[in-house]
Amino acid sequence: MRLRRIPGVREKLLQFPQWLTLEPAQYKGRWREYFAEKAGLPATEEKELHLELGVGKGNFINTMAQTCPDKYWLGVELREEVLLQALTKAEAWQAPNLTLIWANIERLGEFFAPGEVNRIYLNFSDPWPKVRHSKRRLTYRKFLEIYRQILQEGSEIHLKTDNRGLFEFSLEEFQECGFQLREVTFDLHQEKEKEQFDLSAQVMTEYEKRFVGLNQPIQRAVAQVLPKG
Ligand SMILES: C[S@@+](CC[C@H](N)C(=O)[O-])C[C@H]1O[C@@H](n2cnc3c(N)ncnc32)[C@H](O)[C@@H]1O
Repeated sequence: MRLRRIPGVREKLLQFPQWLTLEPAQYKGRWREYFAEKAGLPATEEKELHLELGVGKGNFINTMAQTCPDKYWLGVELREEVLLQALTKAEAWQAPNLTLIWANIERLGEFFAPGEVNRIYLNFSDPWPKVRHSKRRLTYRKFLEIYRQILQEGSEIHLKTDNRGLFEFSLEEFQECGFQLREVTFDLHQEKEKEQFDLSAQVMTEYEKRFVGLNQPIQRAVAQVLPKG
């Protein structure tokens, strides 16, 4: 999707300090404390930490955070123009349990301690269809190893995409890297079991709404980090 450059977009991002964490590395291993303080809760508050990678315009993470106030929500996004829209949505409902990180996903290991994250969502990640670009796909094994590091044992990665090539590649990478797959569907919105799936299967992203509008099938899978041993 082509987005027009917004003049002064960087300065505009800085107008959302409540929802944009500019130095995420300083909270490594301390995200629960960060959120508890932000929400005026006791620092001992143990809530799950959920992370969306490539939030785009932010409909998914904002809806999930609003619907699940019992969890803390973190999103990572590199492109300023879409991040600005995600931040505007967070401000509109004064999100107490959500923050966004303006960074490259490659740097996740700098921001999260081992096992700190309870779940990762990958929604409509860039497909990088050319084979020579396959290492850029967010489900390439180098990325899966980073995710495994920061995820708690037994926790999950929830993946949705419209791109069959990326989906098949991802399923192979998950299996090669020892993740356990379930809820694998090649057409989520026609899936009989859909209502039994997690809320993340029901809440649509901006890309998803567009593809569903075009009658394109959405693929989805859950990959679980197996305990070592
Ligand atoms: C195809 S869009 C999907 C956006 C949103 N998840 C949706 O479904 O509507 C992919 C998003 O991931 C972001 N992205 C891709 N690679 C990234 C990276 N390495 N670090 C941070 N963001 C990235 C892009 O900027 C883009 O906004």
